[in-house]
Amino acid sequence: MSKPNSSDPNAVPNWRLFIALVKFTLFTIVLAFSYLLLEDSIDEWINRKPIPIVKTVKRNRITDDIPWDKVVNGIHVRSGLYDDPNVQTIIGACTSCHSSKLIIQNKATREGWEQMIRWMQKTQNLSDLGESEPIILDYLAKYYAPKKEGRRTNIDMDAIEWYVLDLEQ
Ligand code: HEC
Repeated sequence: MSKPNSSDPNAVPNWRLFIALVKFTLFTIVLAFSYLLLEDSIDEWINRKPIPIVKTVKRNRITDDIPWDKVVNGIHVRSGLYDDPNVQTIIGACTSCHSSKLIIQNKATREGWEQMIRWMQKTQNLSDLGESEPIILDYLAKYYAPKKEGRRTNIDMDAIEWYVLDLEQ
């Protein structure tokens, strides 16, 4: 009378086992495909070279995401140069060999800037700037001019060490 297997309350039905097997197989297939898709990135990640932190921050986070035409408070953000209708001319002519920081750090009259350009042309292979040159010089002389020297500061009379001039010598 008794059918021991089918009436056992703890027995796992065959269809459940089957579904578990199908799930496992699907999972394995998905995993295998994901690996195939990600193989290159995983390999790259495993074989990655240590990157100097400063460089990553500078290149990826701060400048590379900023659009080329973004301007904040009159500063062209990616180059740090003063914004101007001609700023792209300066960027094109002056930032291929060195950072725009070299420009920002300097101040000179139009003649001074011209001399720097001549110096780069003579010694650093800077090519002839053609009709851009006056545009570039105007820009540099306008935004990176020497600061006007103000009146000299007052003499601090208490700080001076007075001495008697010896006229006999
Ligand atoms: C062909 C490459 C090249 C181009 C293009 C170039 N420069 Fe230079 N420039 C140099 C080199 C090289 C130096 C020296 C860098 C150093 O000393 O580290 C230099 C130095 C400078 C300096 C620093 C000078 C000093 O006395 O310290 C300034 C300012 C400068 N460049 C401005 C400009 C401007 C403005 C332009 C665009 C007209 C420009 N550069 C385009 C190569 C170039």
